Formats: sequence, C-alpha cells, structure tokens
Amino acid sequence: MVFRHRQVIDTLPSYKQGKPAPQVEGQRSFKISSNENPHNPLPSVQKAIADQALGHINRYPDMRGWAVVEKLAQQLGVSSENIQLGCGSTEVITQLVNLVAGKGDEVIYPWRSFEAYPIIVTTAGATSVQVPLTAEGKHDIDAMIAAINDRTRLVIVNNPNNPTSTSVSDVDVRRLLEAVPDDVLVLIDEAYVQFNTDAETCIGLDLFHEYSNVIVAQTFSKAYGLAGLRIGYAVGPQDVIDGMRKVALPFGVSDVAQVAAVASLDAYAELSERVDALIMERERVVSKLREQGWQIPEPYANFFWLQLGERSDEIAHYFELSGLSVRVFSGEGIRITIAEREANDLVIDVCARTFEIAHPQAVTV
Ligand SMILES: Cc1ncc(COP(=O)(O)O)c(C=O)c1O
Repeated sequence: MVFRHRQVIDTLPSYKQGKPAPQVEGQRSFKISSNENPHNPLPSVQKAIADQALGHINRYPDMRGWAVVEKLAQQLGVSSENIQLGCGSTEVITQLVNLVAGKGDEVIYPWRSFEAYPIIVTTAGATSVQVPLTAEGKHDIDAMIAAINDRTRLVIVNNPNNPTSTSVSDVDVRRLLEAVPDDVLVLIDEAYVQFNTDAETCIGLDLFHEYSNVIVAQTFSKAYGLAGLRIGYAVGPQDVIDGMRKVALPFGVSDVAQVAAVASLDAYAELSERVDALIMERERVVSKLREQGWQIPEPYANFFWLQLGERSDEIAHYFELSGLSVRVFSGEGIRITIAEREANDLVIDVCARTFEIAHPQAVTV
C-alpha cells in the first residue's frame, strides 16, 4: 500500500535484534548476541514481582516511579529531582533527544556505536553527525570536538562503547566538555558502567556534579539482568529532567519493572558478585584469544569486539554451527557477549578453529 509518511524514515535501517540461540542437533546452544546477563533473575527479585506487582496489573503504574527514583537518589547521592526513568535507557535517550533536537539540529555521536542512536535522532527529525571511531575502536575526541557547530544540540559519549567495548578516559571527556558550549548537553551513556574496570575511565556521575550540561544514562538491563522488563534511568540537571518528563511515553515503565528494580537495588551486593564473575570470564576469554593470536581492543563491558572486516559473516557462520549466535556487523566485525562458562569455552574453541580463516595473511606457507 502507498501511504503518506515521513520520507526520512525510509533512510533508516530497522533495529536489528540479536539473533536467538541457533538450534544445533545434540548440542546446547547459547545466545551471545545482545549483551544480556546470562543469569536468571534472583529469587528475591522474582518473589518481589510475585508478591508486590502481579496482583495489581489491572492498574496503571506510578508514572514517576517514585519508589525506584527515591532509592536510586539515595544510592547515587543525587536528588530525586535529578532522576528520570524510561522503558530502558533507550527510552531515556529518546526523551532527551526529543527534548533538545528537532529539524535542522545536529546530534554528534561516535560511530560505530549503539545502533539505536541514528534511529532516535532521525525519528526526532534531527540530523546525526557520526564521528568514526579511531582504528583502535575508541572515540575520536578531537574529531568529535571538530564536529561541534552552531547546530549542535547534543553530544553523546558511549562509555564503554557498544560494540567495541572500549573505555573513554576522564582526561578525554573533560577535553570534550571544555570544548562544548555550556548550553549544549553532553550525554554520557553508561549502559555497561558496572563492568568498566578501566582505572582511567570517566565517571559520569562525577562529571554530572561538576558540569551543568552533563546527563548520564544507565540501565537495569545489563548488570541487574532485567533486560526483559525495560527499565533505565537518567541523572541530569533538574530542568532537563523536567523537560524529559514532558516528552516521555506516558506510563511507559510498568509496575512489574519498578518493583523488580527496587528489589534489584536492594540485592546489588549479590548481583555484583555475578558482575565480578563475568568480568573474570571476560579476562579469561580475551587472554586465551590473545594467546591464539587475536588482536582485541581491551574490553570494558560484558562483551568484546573482533574486527574482521569482510570476513565477519563467514566467521559468524562458524559460531552459529557451534551453537552460538553472535552479533555480526557485516563488513566490520563481530560483537560477542560474555556469558556462561560453557558458552565462553565454545567461543574460545571457535576462535581457535577460525583464526587462520580470519587471518589468511598470517598463515606461513
Ligand atoms: C550503549 C547502550 N546504551 C543503551 C542501551 C539501552 O539498553 P536498555 O534500553 O535495555 O536500557 C544499550 C543496549 O544494548 C546499549 O548498548
């Protein structure tokens, strides 16, 4: 059917969800394509949902999500007026872009990065300014600074960056912040902050306290393992938060998600043991792969990046045959989520078997 619509939407690629685990006969298979937490929800979180939320899903949720907001405010050391919830940090970022950028305005962000950014910016009617990553998969801060102009309404820093898993240093972000006009916001997207072990990294909340134009986005989807419930949050200046609330999807964050988030904040000591174990697994996998000869940008999230260029699809196929669905960016590389030990062992095994295919020039005759 021909229907009238905004032509700019035709320029957008659809969001590509990570593939489910492939079916391989006689073998367990794993989904390592979406940077999810492999652990089931904690029993205490499941119990809270059953006891406190399921009984009244006939009612709309609290639109402001006060129970979560207040607990977050207490744990993060900010005022509740500085916190806004959304259906995942994806919606929080959408609220922010809708607030600050429309037709003729520009949003600067690194590329490749989180694939929702171009969708969010274009849908708002604004223009994406994608600044290519350095050869090491890091933010090119100088090029981001050079991209700032009168049309800039938002600069996004993704730390650690999805999909390269690289960290952004405090020194670099401060350099960027000094170059951004005071009335232009800088979003620090920290979806994977709990996995970031980089001693030099920038810390969004510290920068929020120091700079009046910094806003930080975090999520319950990754370290807290609540990806399926869709809840994330932003910490930002009160007037920005007030504006975001106006453009938010009404009643977007369900009561089930709010109850689970509060229970997860209460159980963070237990959850952080899982995060530590995933970090240890990340170090184990990456050091094994390096022993095999792979070059991998130092990862600081719950995933790592194989830069494979034209061979990405071919190598991804080998993962699939071994029961692993990875996230392929055709012509660029593969992003692999750190998961259960068994899945990680399979990753090590597939990498050993495909090294020569991925690096034909390294094979001596
Ligand atoms: C960099 C980055 N930011 C934000 C998000 C949003 O996550 P969610 O909407 O599940 O909170 C993701 C999810 O993959 C991400 O990779």
